Amino acid sequence: MCGIIAYTGKQLAMPILLDGLRRLEYRGYDSTGISILSRKRIKTLKAAGKLNVLESKINNPVSGHCGIGHTRWATHGAPTDENAHPHTDPTYRFAVVHNGIIENVDTLKARLGKDTKFTSDTDSEVIAHMLAQQTGELIDAVRQVLAQIVGTYGIAVIDQQNPSTIVVARNGSPVILGIGNDEMLAASDMSALSRYTDQVVHLDDGEIAQLTPDGFQVMHMDSSVSHKEAITLNDQNAHYDRGAHPHYLYKEIVEQPDIVVQTLSGRLDDRFSTARLGGLNLEARDLIGIKRITILGCGSALYAGMAGASMIESLARIPVAAEPAAEFRYRNPVIEQDTLYIVVSQSGETFDTLAALREVRRKGGFVLGIVNSVGSTIAREVDGGIYMHAGPEVSVASTKAYTSMLVAFALLALLLGRSRDVSPQRGSAIIKELKQLPENIRAVLALEPAIAKLSEQYNKSQSAFFIGRTNGFPIALEGAQKLKEISYIHAEAYPASELKHGPLALVTGETPCFVVLPNDDLLPKSISSMEEIKARGGPVIALTSATQQASSRIDTLADAVIRVPETGSLTLPAVMGVALQLLAYHSAVSLGRDVDQPRNLAKSVTVE
Ligand code: F6R
Repeated sequence: MCGIIAYTGKQLAMPILLDGLRRLEYRGYDSTGISILSRKRIKTLKAAGKLNVLESKINNPVSGHCGIGHTRWATHGAPTDENAHPHTDPTYRFAVVHNGIIENVDTLKARLGKDTKFTSDTDSEVIAHMLAQQTGELIDAVRQVLAQIVGTYGIAVIDQQNPSTIVVARNGSPVILGIGNDEMLAASDMSALSRYTDQVVHLDDGEIAQLTPDGFQVMHMDSSVSHKEAITLNDQNAHYDRGAHPHYLYKEIVEQPDIVVQTLSGRLDDRFSTARLGGLNLEARDLIGIKRITILGCGSALYAGMAGASMIESLARIPVAAEPAAEFRYRNPVIEQDTLYIVVSQSGETFDTLAALREVRRKGGFVLGIVNSVGSTIAREVDGGIYMHAGPEVSVASTKAYTSMLVAFALLALLLGRSRDVSPQRGSAIIKELKQLPENIRAVLALEPAIAKLSEQYNKSQSAFFIGRTNGFPIALEGAQKLKEISYIHAEAYPASELKHGPLALVTGETPCFVVLPNDDLLPKSISSMEEIKARGGPVIALTSATQQASSRIDTLADAVIRVPETGSLTLPAVMGVALQLLAYHSAVSLGRDVDQPRNLAKSVTVE
């Protein structure tokens, strides 16, 4: 949510800031802006709209070697030129970019006095005005201002009177320092840094740092020094290169067979027919002591968690519940010692997931993370976990990370199952199923032309239903999620059994119903749901792993059938998920939507 980039060094700042904003655009894209210290003055350029609007306004490049930039996802104030960051004080001495929310903004504005003229509706502008009232070194001025703020922030500040210094600080919104040769960068996200350095330092909440071209110093808010170690990043740049693909989303869909291989790599133990997950920090004895599991996440990560809950429960026979992280933390949850808590997050920065993690740990619970982004806040705060190794996900809608989460859950289910009653033979069969997954995903990718045709047939619909039972329900949820977020077609998922308790009233000849039909014990019952829809004239599209021989009724009833390879229940959500991703993608493309940056959304939701 919102992106920050900052640079000080020997190179011209402007191209680096714009390049950083391009990479950060997926975090928020309703306005952008930069401020650069140029010839002893701060020059600020900002514009509502995407980065190309700002770029089109730049007639002459701004010289200068120190600057900050921002791409915004509006919280306070509409996406306008005025509300775009950076914000400056009335004398243009300071420029500030801010991610997060200032909760006591009204109090702070009142403290500044009636005569203070604000030029924007944002909460962030107050920081620039408050800075203008401080004295002393830049870092002290920033510290004094932050001490008065209630809320969350990741900020970067430049000062006309300290021409090559940037001060950044973090409380609840990520800030990462990038260490270069005679240059320093900072950003809210690794994506903006990886082209310039592989040495990064993550600030923790309550830390403030001063950057100059020759280095950095990190302090706590009470001025004591914080000793930070840099970590080395693996090359991430390939993930930001769309190549010949029309969209990042498409690239991320088609690369999923390789992503699965990466997530599985080194983690299948053929000898003991189990999974090898060293990062869990749990001994065999701990594994058998687990009495219950609670999975927490948001959006698609939650849906992956719901699918993961079924996998673990069925293999390990441990009761598992998956819950929205935000709701969990506000219901004063009972935390139990023999419950394993698992937080799931691609970005590792989702505010609500992080807050849930902190709530559990504060009460003494043990938390594992299934996380993609290496070194992210969630990854650093969990007791142990599984890195997904899916590489950075650029498109706002999750595809490859979602699939990778499912694979991580399958591995965990295998490990927990094998530490209990799953036999070596069954363990081997699961390993075989997991190894087969890339091939099965390829088989689904080969269905693309037929799925694209189908999406054109139904893309005029105002509404669509996705239904499934037990294991099929999380698949339906994610299918509806993908379709609505990128095509803007209203889509709802229901357990198939719930349809007749209300939603059936909405089914007409104009409401396509996507029915998830795993080839399992419930297949006949799911077919009954199809019958109910057909009886009301609703078009039915069956998504099934059952062969025609197994159930000819599906083909007789359905208006269309998407038939995926037959596979076990652990990998079925991934296999079917890819088909639904293709459906959503082609619907969005045929409707001319902004596939990679859907309206109103942003990657990595770092506000509550
Ligand atoms: C949907 C989507 C979101 C995220 C959710 C959690 O396609 O991308 O629903 O899944 O915001 O994000 P992470 O996984 O970063 O915690």
